[in-house]
Amino acid sequence: PVEDRIADLLARMTREEKVGQMMQLDARDDLEDQVLRRHVGSILHTSPERLVRAHELVSQTRLRIPLMVGEDAIHGHSFFEGATIFPTQLGMAASWDTDLLERVARTTAVEVSATGVHWTFSPVLCIARDLRWGRVDESFGEDPFLIGELASAMVRGYQGGGLTDETAILATAKHFAGYSETQGGRDASEADLSPRKLRSWFLPPFERVAREGCRTFMLGYQSIDGVPITVNDWLLNDVLRGEWGYTGTLITDWDNVGRMVWEQKVQPDYAHAAAAAVRAGNDMIMNTPGFFDGALEAIERGLLDEADLDRAVTRILRLKFEFGLFENPRRPDSARIASDVGSEAHARLNLEAARRGLVLLRNDGTLPLAGGLTADDDGRAVPTGEDPLRIAVAGPLADDAQTQLGDWAGGSGQAGWLDGQPREMITTVLDGLREHVPGDWSVRYAPGAEIATLEPHPDGPTYPDGQPRMPIVKPAAPDDRLIADAVAEAQDADVLVAVVGDRIELVGEGRSTATLELIGGQIALLDALVATGKPVVVVLLASKPLVLPPSVQDAAALVWAANPGMRGGRAVAELLLGLIEPSGRLPISFARHAGQQPTYYNQIRGQHADRYADLTQSPAFAFGEGLSYTTVTYEDLHVADDSVPAGATVRAEVRLTNTGSRPAREVVQAYIRDEVTSVSWADKELKAYRIVEIDPGETKTVALELPAADCSIVDAAGRRVVEPGLFTLLVGPSSRAEDLLSATFSIEG
Ligand code: IFM
Repeated sequence: PVEDRIADLLARMTREEKVGQMMQLDARDDLEDQVLRRHVGSILHTSPERLVRAHELVSQTRLRIPLMVGEDAIHGHSFFEGATIFPTQLGMAASWDTDLLERVARTTAVEVSATGVHWTFSPVLCIARDLRWGRVDESFGEDPFLIGELASAMVRGYQGGGLTDETAILATAKHFAGYSETQGGRDASEADLSPRKLRSWFLPPFERVAREGCRTFMLGYQSIDGVPITVNDWLLNDVLRGEWGYTGTLITDWDNVGRMVWEQKVQPDYAHAAAAAVRAGNDMIMNTPGFFDGALEAIERGLLDEADLDRAVTRILRLKFEFGLFENPRRPDSARIASDVGSEAHARLNLEAARRGLVLLRNDGTLPLAGGLTADDDGRAVPTGEDPLRIAVAGPLADDAQTQLGDWAGGSGQAGWLDGQPREMITTVLDGLREHVPGDWSVRYAPGAEIATLEPHPDGPTYPDGQPRMPIVKPAAPDDRLIADAVAEAQDADVLVAVVGDRIELVGEGRSTATLELIGGQIALLDALVATGKPVVVVLLASKPLVLPPSVQDAAALVWAANPGMRGGRAVAELLLGLIEPSGRLPISFARHAGQQPTYYNQIRGQHADRYADLTQSPAFAFGEGLSYTTVTYEDLHVADDSVPAGATVRAEVRLTNTGSRPAREVVQAYIRDEVTSVSWADKELKAYRIVEIDPGETKTVALELPAADCSIVDAAGRRVVEPGLFTLLVGPSSRAEDLLSATFSIEG
């Protein structure tokens, strides 16, 4: 039995070997020192060559305890050349499609496991409420329910049929908890969160995946109420391990233990920091090289009991035994790499993910181009017989392969070992249009603007080794010559496609932005294109919701593509040509102004002066919004029972009719309003949704079900309770009041 094997091994381990087992170090550093001197239990950010070397070194150790290998494979295997890079998590969240997300995670697990990596630091369950935060792209957006649905689908996909399945990898729910609730949007700043606020919004998605068997949790960087998460006894022990019964593994974020000494300054030295982290229940310490000497010193000085160390090591070893790593360390498998990594089948799924995530936000009828085309067997559009269309493409992102992939994809951003993914695997928007328009159409391109240049950041290096943490992004000035070239192309065109957004240097950990505007020459370019009087289709390749300039109001159409992955440019082209239907819905609201935030839909109701004197409080685009090429009406919402017991299920039906001439893929959204609450609470909260396909002219009755227990709030004492009384069910195609039908019901006491 596993427990006997753990006890036997633990009894044979030296104190040094136990401390090392708790450590995960960066494989880009000195592997010999890590494996032979510090006895590390895990490495991350490895390359195929380093991985082979690491395993060789382990075979020279006394006990030959296999390594656990971790990676940020968060939308595909970011650190492996030629792997399938899917749209970012936010991009895929716009699909609202749990089945898709599960298949994407399963596919990522197949690729990741083939390369000898056992553990992905995904999914991200942070709630994105401040759009300036640099990691909004890594989130599922702003809604706790949607986050819970999509995160649990990804966990199921990664962990597959269980750890003995050779294609299973460990999932990580991160960053526990409240990491995204930053000050001024700045990454990893203090999170001003009360336990009640945490329980209301931030903890529910984590609770869900903890109860559903997510094997590992990663802790956030920040402090809550003065206590770094790494040593937050209430969060880690009372809530996670206590209330939720979580028995999995806890890993810190990057150097959380060291940061308590050199950055947060809440521990005097590494011995105290290591002792506090182990006592609080952390199992794996990510990249704090000083943990080794610190923990040993802590035991010698009586700051830490060896029993606490044993408890953590036991959890790590259990994972390795359950994984079967002692029998099969799961090294890179060249046959599986050749057949699975970046395979054609995975590329097809990638295209499906990209298609599903595109959100059409505005359309005056210009889209689909030429009224919508049909595809031949190769996916190219068939000529219509009408006059061929001349398309002028502009914008600095139309042919920017790396930005299209987003962060954590090799190349710039969180770079890893790679300079980038192979260009031939990536279809940019320009490529997509060129490859898919009918043969007699023309596609011409002039970038029209630059975005930014990079300079050393004036706030200086912040890592202890003197490495600069990040460059500062200097917006490029509008360039009249570039704009004139784009306008010249536009003059000869029938329709203009402008691909604008944010560049990779404006995205990621430590890369929050003070502004949300399009930067560089992009606003001037859009102004000039719109001024031509030709229809302008704006494609927003933006990692997160940006504030759009006034000229976009006069554009013919607007599509948000997020960072749509390797096949994203093809998906965009297909959407513009009408070869596919737009079906994405916003998982996050768009603000009108950076200073208008927050704009998330489920804010606390009823503050009568809670609006700006100079701006409406409504977002530019609200959570749940997204257009189709057809129209769908919602009618006749009714709940089955006027009154239900608190333990029962609320059942409702609504009738949808596709009144247009193209197929619809509709996301039917169900929100709950608790009419009177004992504490101030959100005006509505998403509690269920259904994705339904409806043919032109077809009517479908859609059934919705939600447990009455989900109609809960967190009361003044911090307890989640259902307060009996009157509720309103709101159903429609978005969170906007004007889009929702309503029906009332009561929950009995
Ligand atoms: O997994 C990440 C985490 O999300 C942010 N800090 C670094 C970790 C490892 O790369």
